[in-house]
Order: sequence, then C-alpha cells, then structure tokens
Amino acid sequence: MTALNILITSKLDDRHLKAIKTVAPDSTIILCDLQQAAEHIADTDILLTWGTMDLRPLYPTALKLKWIHALSAGVENLIFPEIKSANTLLTNSKGIHGIPVSEHVLAMMLAFTRGLNVFIRQQTKRKWKRVAVEEIYDKTIGIIGLGSIGREIAKKAKGMGMKVVASKQTMTTEIFVDELYTPDQLHELLAISDFVVVALPLVEETTNLFTINEFAAMKSSAYFFNIARGAVVKHDDLVTALQQGLIKGAGLDVFEHEPLPEASPLWDMENVIITPHLAALSPNYMDRAIKLFADNLSRFIQNKDMLNIIDKDKGY
Ligand code: OXD
Repeated sequence: MTALNILITSKLDDRHLKAIKTVAPDSTIILCDLQQAAEHIADTDILLTWGTMDLRPLYPTALKLKWIHALSAGVENLIFPEIKSANTLLTNSKGIHGIPVSEHVLAMMLAFTRGLNVFIRQQTKRKWKRVAVEEIYDKTIGIIGLGSIGREIAKKAKGMGMKVVASKQTMTTEIFVDELYTPDQLHELLAISDFVVVALPLVEETTNLFTINEFAAMKSSAYFFNIARGAVVKHDDLVTALQQGLIKGAGLDVFEHEPLPEASPLWDMENVIITPHLAALSPNYMDRAIKLFADNLSRFIQNKDMLNIIDKDKGY
C-alpha cells in the first residue's frame, strides 16, 4: 500500500479520518489551517482543501503535490497559471450539493411568494398586516446552468407543479425540464421566467453575466436567485434593477465580496433575502464530501479513473 502524505486544511471528525485511513492505512494525515500548511506543503502528496482558499502563495513549494481535491464544488481559487501548466490533478466535490441547495432555493422562493420576507420584519414590530401572497404552482422557473444542482432544483420545481425551463451548453434529454435553451438564448429564457435561478460555475464567460441588460430582459414580476458565485452578477446593476423595479425581488446566498459589505444597499431592501453563503451546508455535507474523497482516493491509489476531474482550461 502506498504511503501518502495527505494534508487537510479543514476540520474533520474522527469518523471522516477513519474513512480516509480505511482506504489509505499507511498514509500520514495532517490537519491544519492554510497558514500552517506552509510548513507541510513541501512533503504533501495530496491536498484536501476548499476551492475558496488561495493556494497561490503555497503552490511554488508544493513540489511533491500530485492531487488537490476540493471539498467544495467551486474551485475558482485553485486555478491559476502555475497550476494550469503543471500536472497536478484537480478534482472537486460536485454532485453532493443538489439536495441542500435545491431546498435552499425552494425556501427562498416560497418565502417570497408567501410574504415571509415582509412578515418576519413585521413580527419584530408586533405588526399584523396582510400583504398579497402568491403561488409557485404553474409558474415558470428558469434555471441557468443544468448541472447536478440545477437538475435537483428542476426535479423539486416539477414536483411543485411548476413549468421548468433551463439553459445548458449541450442539448440532452431531461425528464424534469420542459424546454432547454442554449446559453445564447439567455434573454429568451429570462423573458418567460417567473423565477430565475443561477446555478453556473464561475469562469471567464460567466463573470458579470448578469448586468442591467439581463435584469431588463426579465419580467418585472420575476424573482432572481443566486446560489452560484457572486461575481456572476454585477452587484451595482442588481441594486439598480431592484431599485427601479426591473425585477420584483432577489434571494442571494453569494456575493462578489463576502461577507457582503455593510454599505451594500441590498441589506436594507425588503424584497431581498440575504443568506451568508451556506446554501450547500447541511449536517450531511462532510459525510458526503468525505465519502466522495475516499472513493477518489481509492481510485488514485489503484490508478483507476478518478471522479470529478476539473478541466483546468474550462474551470469546472
Ligand atoms: C461550493 C459552495 O462551491 O458551497 O461548494 O459554494
């Protein structure tokens, strides 16, 4: 059995360490934070970390590093010129986010349609006042990006009696989607959607994809949701769209700058729901993530095809 040095920049429970050790009993596992990682990186064969961690300062000394596995789906901080031109394998935790993220999207959608964004504020003032409430049944949800998260959202939306449209680069047969659009038909999809959900990875083509033009293409009665990455949206354009009534509301879990700066006007808007980048979290997250990592580790050791390999040029 190969003796591997595995560096992990995340807290793990004993059962997770045990799962890794079961697959690689001879390995040495070091758990530390990113600062302490500098002491160990030169001897590291495998790095288990988060895609939001900035590896750039460490990478030049990571001379033995063969594989980086991201505990997250997003890997935007793990792709930079030095890593692109190196052989270091990069994989992510794609596939484990669908359940919690789709529940989060549904929660935000229902919160808006049933007026909870208003009623929770009213409750803090002991105020009893009805506002108009809506149904999501028979409404159209437009999902931008139909990966494993988008598909799980589509499935739940279908189950709620919604019409589901989605945009996707390649045309496939999708059981929970009524109509597929290509990325260049984005405005057509936006024009017919009552709820627009962004579920795209952050890459060059998706950075600032949503500007004032995209919000203007949406129905003024539509809600916008971002559970992907903040930089897919131009923050100031979203603020303007909400201020000018180009869209009815927004549910936002991710922001270009996190935490969302206190000065952002989004904080004070009654038609905005802000959550602190946790749509994917659940008590099951690490169990699922480590199960996937352990599976990949076993493949790595046995020289078998690995799961979730990132195309460093595409960025996902
Ligand atoms: C992720 C996330 O990328 O939760 O995994 O944002």
